[in-house]
Amino acid sequence: MSVSGAGSPPPSYVRTPGARFLNSLSVDRPLARYDVAGSIAHAEMLGRVGILSPSETSELVAGLRTVAREIRDGSFPWREDLEDVHTNIEVRVTELLGPVGGKLHTARSRNDQVALDERLYLRSAILDVATALLELERRLLQRADLAVDVPLPGYTHLQRAQLVSVAHWFLAHFWRFDRDLDRLIDLARRANTSPLGAGALAGSTLPIDPAYVASRLGFDGAFENSLDAVSDRDPLAEFLFDLALVAVHASSFGEEVVVFASQEFGFLERSPALGAGSSLMPQKRNPDIAELVRGKAGRAIGDLVALLTVLKGLPLAYNRDLQEDKAPVADALATVEGVVGALSELVDGMRFAPAALAAASGDAELYATDRAEALVASGVPFREAHATVTAAYAAGTPAALPTGSGSYDHDPPLALGRRASPGGPGPKAVATQIAHARERRTARSETLSSLGRKVELIEELLNEVEK
Ligand code: ARG
Repeated sequence: MSVSGAGSPPPSYVRTPGARFLNSLSVDRPLARYDVAGSIAHAEMLGRVGILSPSETSELVAGLRTVAREIRDGSFPWREDLEDVHTNIEVRVTELLGPVGGKLHTARSRNDQVALDERLYLRSAILDVATALLELERRLLQRADLAVDVPLPGYTHLQRAQLVSVAHWFLAHFWRFDRDLDRLIDLARRANTSPLGAGALAGSTLPIDPAYVASRLGFDGAFENSLDAVSDRDPLAEFLFDLALVAVHASSFGEEVVVFASQEFGFLERSPALGAGSSLMPQKRNPDIAELVRGKAGRAIGDLVALLTVLKGLPLAYNRDLQEDKAPVADALATVEGVVGALSELVDGMRFAPAALAAASGDAELYATDRAEALVASGVPFREAHATVTAAYAAGTPAALPTGSGSYDHDPPLALGRRASPGGPGPKAVATQIAHARERRTARSETLSSLGRKVELIEELLNEVEK
């Protein structure tokens, strides 16, 4: 932003590099709604314990709701010369109400205030990412459902190993993202403690009631230790780890799409759903979306490392270093929301090439273990069977080995049907897996609804009409 426009010169605190350096408005404005909600709960608490009179309390609460409306409709007069979101809101309340505004910050510090705002912000950030993951899960399940009988070579070391199915492959990715969802839900529970009332670091001499603020804002309770409460950024660090792992899982999916879409594999149709063409080479259809999904993981990991590095070695309690917690969180959140959204679309749009899958699935190499196991079933010790099959493949005579039933190489669906062990790729086992995945997803969705109600609670607090 330029400060050298016409009219009166900008105040010195905007002009000095030090003041600009300290200013956090560019990163903490997303906390504004939560800051107002926290202030409403705080003012109510001050009223309940008798620090504010009933009329002061309702004046402050009404003023804060006015501020909430201004923030929502974009008319809030943000001032770059005020250091942060907290000061902007407090100064505005005082502008609207006069001297009673000066009572809002009683028994409170920006240290416990920012910690509180971040907890409330995190709650809705978790809900957003988790909701996007739930949608990704829905699409993965939908694709799996339609591909239970479609054989796909499975790989270890990126070498053809044993037969799996397209459904089993989609589901493998489902479970990774489902654990991510579980981690986020678990974090929402663990982070649901209010730090307000910790003050700058040592609570207050006034008879405040942190438990009231906590329950008003939908927390499970208030902090146990004021020094810890103002300095604890564990929830943000955990959130960044959870996001980084989502991005890592997505990158792995992206890599497989890139590989499957190459001419060398040819498993995926090179359709526009995968990405763009080349500006130079007319024949190109590049898997850009999958590649960028793969690439974005670097940012998410970087954001986690950035925050951990800020936290490392910090003494108790609040230190200004902690202001550096916001940018990585916002960056990782936006990055991962983008990744998950694009991936969901990709999951819907990608098309396997049936002829290429059928040809690759007919490769005799995929059935070497099946042949060894057929020998084991007829009483041969596994080590001996292993050696016999190795020799037969080396001699080019695997077809001469007894199969137990049918000839797998020429009948991949038959071979798939024989991989019936629990959790394996056989259609029956996969049907069970899909049923479990559906149940799991339903349970997740119910948990997210209750988190959604906590997020709603904050909106209601901001919008409540004075009785
Ligand atoms: N902008 C600060 C932050 O994000 C708010 C807390 C400031 N506290 C202070 N004592 N200066 O951490």
